Amino acid sequence: MRLKRTACIAAIAAMATAGLAACGNGDDNNSKGDGGSGGGKIKGKVGIILPDTKSSVRWENFDLPVLTQEFKQAGIPADIQNAEGDKQRMQTIADQMITNGVTILAIVNLDSASGAQIETKAKQQGVQTIDYDRLTLGGSADYYVSFDGTQVGRVQGQGLQKCLGDKKSNIVYLDGSPTDNNATLFKNGAHEVLDKVTNYTKVAEQAVPDWDNQKAATIFEQMYTQQKGKIDGVYAANDGLGQAAISILNKNGQAGKVPVTGQDATPQGLQNILDGTQCMTVYKPNKQEADGLVKVVTALAKGEKPQTNGTAEDPTGKRQVPSILLQPIGIFKDNVKQVITDGGVKASDVCKGSYAAKCKAAGIQ
Ligand code: BGC
Repeated sequence: MRLKRTACIAAIAAMATAGLAACGNGDDNNSKGDGGSGGGKIKGKVGIILPDTKSSVRWENFDLPVLTQEFKQAGIPADIQNAEGDKQRMQTIADQMITNGVTILAIVNLDSASGAQIETKAKQQGVQTIDYDRLTLGGSADYYVSFDGTQVGRVQGQGLQKCLGDKKSNIVYLDGSPTDNNATLFKNGAHEVLDKVTNYTKVAEQAVPDWDNQKAATIFEQMYTQQKGKIDGVYAANDGLGQAAISILNKNGQAGKVPVTGQDATPQGLQNILDGTQCMTVYKPNKQEADGLVKVVTALAKGEKPQTNGTAEDPTGKRQVPSILLQPIGIFKDNVKQVITDGGVKASDVCKGSYAAKCKAAGIQ
């Protein structure tokens, strides 16, 4: 696997021990369609089910195109679909994929119970399964490919602290979906950092069901009213939840005065950072995650054992799942450019209209 130079820097730390990262000129070395890991012949076809189109723009705008391209380049037939937030639909898609000859199935679960069911059913039909991005608790996935979720939370916590300074501050938490194991890891990582700052007081914390941005705005507005506006910092688990908080702060003339965190380095999150209404976001290069999945799928399709660089604990299933875990990157106003030069987001998606001047000022374009 070859990674683009910038992506490579982050990947090295996480993957060097497993020998997974190779840095070069950004060209992929999989042009022969051998998936880059030598050896046997690729047999079979992979099915990938993404969760929804609303909890983050990443699934349709980043993961779908990047996965499509990466699997094409690796010469592995891939059927990639989106469950649109419907658990039953995800099961139906999985059933259809298996009927149509998928031999390896990767899912981003909508919750652990439904994910585990899909994996059990797949297993019964001889299909190997992989958890992509979200670990299915109590599931039976053979492998897990993701970013280190606790580290994502730490980067968010450190980011909020950087933007707030150590002054006396009331902090509220808008956590991700209670059914998403990642959301638990993110908030644990954030608490690990922020709870140590004695000047910070947590005045409210709530999980946002299904990462629903509308519900996040309602929840944040209630927090704001209850605290009589005395909120100094907002931990928001991703850019969508961050935007919900910013919209309410804006209504109250406070946007830009109260630092808000995020995740996913979405065009809107990056624009908010350039505006100064969002303190930071977390960049998780999709190409690295897709590469990780391609690597695991390629090995499985050749009947080989995939290389991993760690394990993820499933406390429900009481097992350690062999994993590829990648390192996230904190993005602030001074390194928004990094996401664009790395190819994570197109400059044209961020630097539109009034953002052209702000991009210029930030050294972009
Ligand atoms: C992902 C985040 C995403 C969130 C909502 C999490 O599991 O890791 O990148 O923002 O789900 O879709």
